[in-house]
Amino acid sequence: MSFGPGFLWGAATSSYQIEGAVAVDGRLPSIWDTFCATPGKIDGGDTGAVAADHYHRYPEDVAIMRSLGLGAYRFSVAWPRVQPLGSGAVEQRGLDFYRRLVDTVLDNGIQPWPTLYHWDLPQPLEDAGGWPERDTALRFAEYAQIVHEALGDRVTHWTTLNEPWCSAFLGYATGRHAPGRQDPAASVRAAHHLLLGHGLAARAMPGASVGITLNLTHVTPGTRSAADQDAARRIDGLQNRLFLDPVLLAEYPSDVVEDLARVTDFGFVQEDDLKTIAAPLDFLGVNYYSPMLVGHGTSTGPSAYVGSEHVTHLDGGRARTSIGWEIDARGLLDLLLRLDSDYPAIPLHVTENGAAFDDEVHDAARIAYLDGHVRACAEAVARGVRLRGYFAWSLLDNFEWSYGYAQRFGLVHVDYQTLERTIKDSAHWYAAVIRRGGL
Ligand code: FCB
Repeated sequence: MSFGPGFLWGAATSSYQIEGAVAVDGRLPSIWDTFCATPGKIDGGDTGAVAADHYHRYPEDVAIMRSLGLGAYRFSVAWPRVQPLGSGAVEQRGLDFYRRLVDTVLDNGIQPWPTLYHWDLPQPLEDAGGWPERDTALRFAEYAQIVHEALGDRVTHWTTLNEPWCSAFLGYATGRHAPGRQDPAASVRAAHHLLLGHGLAARAMPGASVGITLNLTHVTPGTRSAADQDAARRIDGLQNRLFLDPVLLAEYPSDVVEDLARVTDFGFVQEDDLKTIAAPLDFLGVNYYSPMLVGHGTSTGPSAYVGSEHVTHLDGGRARTSIGWEIDARGLLDLLLRLDSDYPAIPLHVTENGAAFDDEVHDAARIAYLDGHVRACAEAVARGVRLRGYFAWSLLDNFEWSYGYAQRFGLVHVDYQTLERTIKDSAHWYAAVIRRGGL
């Protein structure tokens, strides 16, 4: 199964999950530093204070990338390193770190793929109201412009946001992610202002090739009953279309707006916002881990799916990774086919896909997971989907948000005592896929 020349093979990470060095070179706290310092929020009381210490060890990490033959490296820029207060003064030492990183990546023949926002909002912006406030979108565009001016001469592909669904709904509705608020109306406002920030940032980076990364999934109803199908429509709406439609079609899906009517009237949407959000886009990043099977029922606990109180998540009966996510590569193929038919104009990149397993260096289960999903990508390409690249999540074991260090997604093992890196079997497997240009 070949992907043809030009297909981009990469691996992904994000700033707070690997960098550590949280108080170095002028960096100030982000919402994740604050959240981690709040008792009970993170499994094991873990924090990203040291993480994989990539801030200091990036030369070694880039050497590993080169040894694997990676074509691209997707990483994120930490806003609180560049603008520690979230607005105003720029910290050159923070920008210098990303200059050094990008130069090292380029010197090793690897394309840098920065993401501007992978969840580490400067704490002062949250103190001023966070993403539910419109001003945060304006601040984000200003920050994007600063980073683009510093790196735009050597970086061509820019991703604005990573998974705004998580920032909005896990951050402001369930409270499972930073900043840990539980305010459904605020979470929808956050979603809108994240998208607005995306559009404004795209406009602030002239000449850049711009994308956005969404966590999308394939949603299936438990049965053919009208009630189950309605449940699937709702979840597909909140998870996929609430983000895809404004970005790619310049509109919010009317059924989702209706589903959310009890929560919000969307009065925060100003004239021309949708035009801004639908700024010309060069690629869509797709993060896929697991499919969803849903039915009509009573949801338990605070739902991330604000406005979908009568939806229950069903067990598809498949094997799960150690984080508890069901494994189904077919879901990725179905998702890619659906994106290609519903949003045909936009080239796709899988910007994250991978699995957490407890096994350490001999990680046969991770190889099986990746093999199945790379096969799904090959099938999509063979069926004409405009899929241009695949990024494994993750290059390194890292800080897995509220799960702390207990969940390992890396192709490379990190010993959190010594910070020693060890190449896992899955990394060798991936290097062979890259060498052959396919399976
Ligand atoms: C995604 C995140 C990424 C990582 C993976 C496992 O939702 O973008 O940071 O945590 O899940």
